[in-house]
Amino acid sequence: MMQFPHNFLWGAASSAHQVEGNNINSDWWEWEKRVGLKEPSGQACWHYQLYKEDFDLAKSLNHNAHRLSVEWSRIEAVQGEFSEQELAHYREVILSLKEHNIEPIVTLHHFTNPLWFAKIGGWKNKKAIDYFSRYVDKVVTALGDQVHFWVTINEPLIYVYKSYILGEWPPQKKSLNLARKITHNLAIAHIKAYRLIHSIYKKRSFSRPSVSIAQNLQAFVACPPTLKNKFAAYLGERLYNFGFVEKLMRHRVLDFIGINYYGPFFMEAHGWRLKNLLLEASRQEHRELKKNTLGWYIYPEGLYQLLIKLKRYKLPIFILENGICSQDDQLRWDYIRQHLVNVHRAMQEGVAVLGYIYWSLLDNFEWDKGFAPRFGLIDVDYRDYKRTIRESARKFAEVCKTGVLN
Ligand code: BGC
Repeated sequence: MMQFPHNFLWGAASSAHQVEGNNINSDWWEWEKRVGLKEPSGQACWHYQLYKEDFDLAKSLNHNAHRLSVEWSRIEAVQGEFSEQELAHYREVILSLKEHNIEPIVTLHHFTNPLWFAKIGGWKNKKAIDYFSRYVDKVVTALGDQVHFWVTINEPLIYVYKSYILGEWPPQKKSLNLARKITHNLAIAHIKAYRLIHSIYKKRSFSRPSVSIAQNLQAFVACPPTLKNKFAAYLGERLYNFGFVEKLMRHRVLDFIGINYYGPFFMEAHGWRLKNLLLEASRQEHRELKKNTLGWYIYPEGLYQLLIKLKRYKLPIFILENGICSQDDQLRWDYIRQHLVNVHRAMQEGVAVLGYIYWSLLDNFEWDKGFAPRFGLIDVDYRDYKRTIRESARKFAEVCKTGVLN
């Protein structure tokens, strides 16, 4: 039997574009149309309308926390014009969570940008940070009295990797120079947002907020463990997992470390050049490991290993995403259980973990992959938006209720 602390936060996450539907003023919406994405976001899960019902479901599953994002492109659909109506909507959403006794964890930027912002160069524009700060100011002024946990930017490095290195996501660039610049701008955007949020809370005498980013972590494993592969894994870990976090640590702008963990990256470099060392994952099959429907390996002990490494930063850790897309719901429960076993093990060894947030509450729009990957604790029938609680959700609900994992 494994016991978690009584004040542990348990719940699930979502992001606006992936669940709300009709996010028409965002760069993603425009991009989906322009490239003719086979399954565009469309109505998504209709969560913009159905959020109360969805929170009823989360409550019935004993969640005491929920991570959501507010959508910049709704709040500032036109440059410089902030919509009171949309701010009021998100206030209602947050108040609804609070009525359910569910702690909101609010993300300010989760991959999508307003279309106007993208059109002027997005995060490479000299004024990008000012625009983001102005938006943060509006949101935090409007919602700050109801929110304790803020996540400024979701997975800055995944965003850069997909949008500026692989060129798969909008704006589909492939430029290391640009990637470096955007990474830098995202770091500054966080630093400024962190300070701004704290200053707003101080000015208004709200109790001190907890602000962080959601850092995607991969377990980098040398495969096979040759010197070259070990070096590649070491580099990946330094640059990808910890470099950005350490930069923010130096500026003292993290109140906790928010992490998203899905699985491993097996490193097999075919040369000593930086490109080989940084970008080559093993093509070798790791047959003993199971995979999700997107082909990602399942490697729960990687979470333990990363948590132990994060201990040196002496900040509490919050698992803001961990999840699996699968049609096999037993595999989903095994995934959750195994990861929780590893979280518990790390906590026994002194790692302070605030909570565990599963990705995702509902099946949803998985970016360029459309609706096929099923990450939800709750199944969504996209023909009529009917929700059906999965068995794995009920098993997880028992843990959320008792804090005990058997
Ligand atoms: C992102 C989510 C995404 C999930 C599964 C995370 O990287 O924050 O938006 O749906 O992974 O791919």
